[in-house]
Amino acid sequence: MDSAVADQSDKPERRRLFFALWPDDATRVHLANLLHALPPGQGRDMRIENLHVTLVFIGDCDPEETTCLEAVGESTRGKPFELMLDHLGVFERAHVLWAGTRNPPEALLKMQAALVGQLATRCGMARDMRPYAPHLTLRRNTSQPVEWPGTLAAIAWRVDALALVESVPSALGVEYRPIRQWPLLSE
Ligand code: 2AM
Repeated sequence: MDSAVADQSDKPERRRLFFALWPDDATRVHLANLLHALPPGQGRDMRIENLHVTLVFIGDCDPEETTCLEAVGESTRGKPFELMLDHLGVFERAHVLWAGTRNPPEALLKMQAALVGQLATRCGMARDMRPYAPHLTLRRNTSQPVEWPGTLAAIAWRVDALALVESVPSALGVEYRPIRQWPLLSE
């Protein structure tokens, strides 16, 4: 047998994964309009179909770790909430231009913290000790703030699901694919 083929079949499949808020179609249309209206500037705009808010980035996972993430997602959904994307900002060191919210909903912060805690205790995954800053990346490789003409029309996003997303290399660059989504549960 070809040894390269044998090596491949021996390797457990690894997937690059993260938990995220994945926009519904209507919200994605609003985000597309925002992206199209951004004044041109330094950097590279995100592809519309990739836009999301990361909750916890995990990285490469083997099948056992993936199963653990799915169990955590299943049991760590919070309540639905409204996310108002009402301003733009830049992370200068990360060279990212983003849309964010002036008032992060309590339910969002609670769900994010619960995920981090569950991933540590149930899956043995290290906690990222940096404070969580919810944001939706619009443009990469830039530290240039944009001068928005007039007032930014806020996007009201009714978040009702938690997503586990895979990052897949593709000919067009990276592609993000939600592999599981769990509805959030009103009590
Ligand atoms: P960003 O949008 O602020 O760059 C998938 O890569 C998503 O996970 C991106 O939204 C990215 O955030 C986020 N992320 C957080 N930490 C990461 C890391 N160490 N490596 C890659 N992506 C990370």
